[in-house]
Amino acid sequence: MSELTVRPRRAPSRGPAIDMTTRLAGVEFPNPVFTASGCAAAGQELDQFFDVSLLGGVVTKSIMLAPRSGRATPRMAETPSGMLNSIGLQGPGIEAFLDKDLSWLAERGARAVVSIAGGSVEDYTKLAQRLRGRPGLSMVEVNISCPNVEDRGQVFACDPDASAAVVAAVRRVTAPGVPVFAKLSPDVTDIAAIARACVDAGADGLSVINTLLGMVIDTTTMRPALGGITGGLSGPAIRPVAVRCVWQIRQALPDTPILGMGGIRTGLDALEFVLAGADAVSVGTTVFGDPTAPLRVLDELARALADRGFERFGDAVGLAHKPPVVHLPQDPDPVGDDPPPTKPALGSEL
Ligand SMILES: Cc1cc2nc3c(=O)[nH]c(=O)nc-3n(C[C@H](O)[C@H](O)[C@H](O)COP(=O)(O)O)c2cc1C
Repeated sequence: MSELTVRPRRAPSRGPAIDMTTRLAGVEFPNPVFTASGCAAAGQELDQFFDVSLLGGVVTKSIMLAPRSGRATPRMAETPSGMLNSIGLQGPGIEAFLDKDLSWLAERGARAVVSIAGGSVEDYTKLAQRLRGRPGLSMVEVNISCPNVEDRGQVFACDPDASAAVVAAVRRVTAPGVPVFAKLSPDVTDIAAIARACVDAGADGLSVINTLLGMVIDTTTMRPALGGITGGLSGPAIRPVAVRCVWQIRQALPDTPILGMGGIRTGLDALEFVLAGADAVSVGTTVFGDPTAPLRVLDELARALADRGFERFGDAVGLAHKPPVVHLPQDPDPVGDDPPPTKPALGSEL
């Protein structure tokens, strides 16, 4: 019989004194590192490794109205620097979720970001109504990047009107102080156009990005590796795509809060998203290999910011959009007749 290794719970590190608070649509979070939907269930499993209330928030697996068993097996395939999953929206349904998961998060003192998913605008409306007034609910993440039954398997987030219809319905029935974030798909031609449609429909912020649609063929069986044939690609392989999406949305909608994600493994990965314009980040696939990753990323991000001279997290958000500051080296020969320096040194504005 194999022995069970009990790992000590990771304690919060006493990192650099830096203000890590972030505000998302008027709600203050103690720090900008969250879990990613579908990668940490509702936080209970992670809580044996560290206190999940230390995170900015716990984003729960997308919940649907009824219990659901998900898609056919096999549901995971390895890919270079990433993974492909076709779990589907497996879950206990909203009533069991409210009783067991959301109440546990509330008791734990964690800030819950509840992800909801449906096949129709009506599904989303009912889900949002069930969440209204629930203790512990900090934010609603609307997963519009899942297949839309009303439109014969299309994805809401691939169409601006369909995205807007879902977001408007959820915003209408959600309590005013609870931000509604729309989770976008990168599988579109113009992600900024979808982002704008969501914001115009009432989204308070955007979660960027969901997985990319991918496929693996098993060269031994010579058939698709996943039971569901196609699946969602996640992990470090998608990080440059995700950073590009955050950048484009920040440029198009500079005042809209962004929760950025896609392949974050370290604090420096997280910093890339922040510099591109993310006000907070979610850590997803990495958690499967290192359950302490979200807390580690938080420590590493704080250190990376301190190393770069920041005193407040917020000062780094979107910094990469600002032009670099040109520092002219001092003339070592102020009265002489040396030719002036021709190559200015480039530094970043801190
Ligand atoms: C196994 C698995 C399940 C996921 N389930 C959901 C989900 O239920 N809802 C959702 O919005 N995103 C889901 N995602 C997407 C992640 O939340 C995240 O957007 C994506 O994986 C990119 O981040 P990462 O590369 O850090 O994992 C899932 C991802 C994985 C790997």
